[in-house]
Amino acid sequence: MEDAYIIKGGKRLGGEVELSGAKNIALKTIIAALLFDGPVILENIPRIRDVEELLNLIKSIGGRAEFINVNKLKIEGGCFDKNRLDFVFASKIRVSFLFFAPFILKFNSAEIPNPGGCRLGLRPIDRIVDAMKSLSIQVNYETTSGYYYAKKNSKIDGLVKFNKPTHTGTELIIMLAVVGEGQVIIENAAMEPEIDDLINFLNLAGARIERRGNLIQIYSVKSLKQKTSFKIVSDRNEAATYISLALATKGNIVISNIEKHYIQALIKSVKSIGGLAEEKKNKKWKFSYPPFGELNAVNIETSPYPGFMTDWQPPWAILLTQARGESIIHERIFENRFSYVEELKKLGAQIEFITIKVNDPKKYYHFNYEEGKEYQQAIKIIGQQQLHGGVLTIADLRAGATLAIAALVAEGESVVNNVSILERGYENFIEKIQKLGGNIKKI
Ligand code: EPU
Repeated sequence: MEDAYIIKGGKRLGGEVELSGAKNIALKTIIAALLFDGPVILENIPRIRDVEELLNLIKSIGGRAEFINVNKLKIEGGCFDKNRLDFVFASKIRVSFLFFAPFILKFNSAEIPNPGGCRLGLRPIDRIVDAMKSLSIQVNYETTSGYYYAKKNSKIDGLVKFNKPTHTGTELIIMLAVVGEGQVIIENAAMEPEIDDLINFLNLAGARIERRGNLIQIYSVKSLKQKTSFKIVSDRNEAATYISLALATKGNIVISNIEKHYIQALIKSVKSIGGLAEEKKNKKWKFSYPPFGELNAVNIETSPYPGFMTDWQPPWAILLTQARGESIIHERIFENRFSYVEELKKLGAQIEFITIKVNDPKKYYHFNYEEGKEYQQAIKIIGQQQLHGGVLTIADLRAGATLAIAALVAEGESVVNNVSILERGYENFIEKIQKLGGNIKKI
């Protein structure tokens, strides 16, 4: 199987690129569509591997989902006849645990294997299991089979209070509570805007979900029925990738379909380092390297919305290898989100892990921080490095796009291996890069 790119870098990239639909909204709405009565039409679904794997998973439980044109997907709501996910299909996609919701709605029980997906630290689902238990759903994990067994004994009703927020966990609770007979309140819900898209999708079909800051209230309804097709908005993480690409290759790229409020923190950061971000008409933005200047170093820490997002820091790191001075990136959301660092060093990047003391690490970090355990949560990047070609291996999705950008910045030829990981989340990556003038092909 072809699973590598050959990239010849060192060119300024320019032109226009159109963003695809957001992976992290598409995946959730597709699963939520199983809660509906009747057909559901979703538009602007990106043709990426994660979506492909999800559709295979839906078919493996007897569900029906098919593309009716390039990015328009039709899903038959409520149409599946198993309450158990196959281990092999489910292990390919992390959001598989969201199937708890349609299974419990239809069968009052669910059997779900431990989730797969990107390896960003341990990524446990303890908060999610605790939340389900607080709604009186019985959940047991069997280590021998690697399955969670869930059973609903009474109506889903009550309060979920997350100690620390969880993005997909918040979405699961919404999906579990949306159809039924109870009322559920989520306290300390995650603030990510993708959740609001899911809420909007459900409310348009008759749901009653209200958000006031980090409190979400769900008044269960009898059923959901789609009235008109739902369009997935553009991907803010894909935007971050092409913004970094424009600036790191000292080029200028017009990005269309930008949802401004999703990436405000990023636009602010681009301006703060001296990059140009100009808003044009019709959701288009032009991002350029300053014609008579250079980019400046900056220190950033990742945060939940509306802060600088964790998914943006890997491509942003490439940008900082080209900026003047020393920059620091401090990752708060995931452990192990620096898999790209050793790879970038192969291209001549000067990056080192550093320790930053924080007052209350248990509170500051969003993963389950353990006293006494060694973490690598911050890096220092020495700027204005001339990168050269090399052989790179991708370990997770955002690191994948980052390594491809790095190879496009580097002088000479690079091979990037394991690109199927990148293609889990980026639609038409090669075609888009080629259109911007990048020299990239798959081997
Ligand atoms: N966490 C736990 N226990 C839980 C749930 C979460 O320890 O029960 C930890 C996680 O390991 C992480 C932190 O809490 O360290 C935050 O996790 P969260 O649940 O908020 O993130 P997620 O739902 O797993 C989603 C996106 C990520 C994105 C983050 C942050 C999807 C499918 N994934 O992850 O996207 O980075 O929110 O917004 O929506 C990606 O697209 O490549 C990606 C990783």
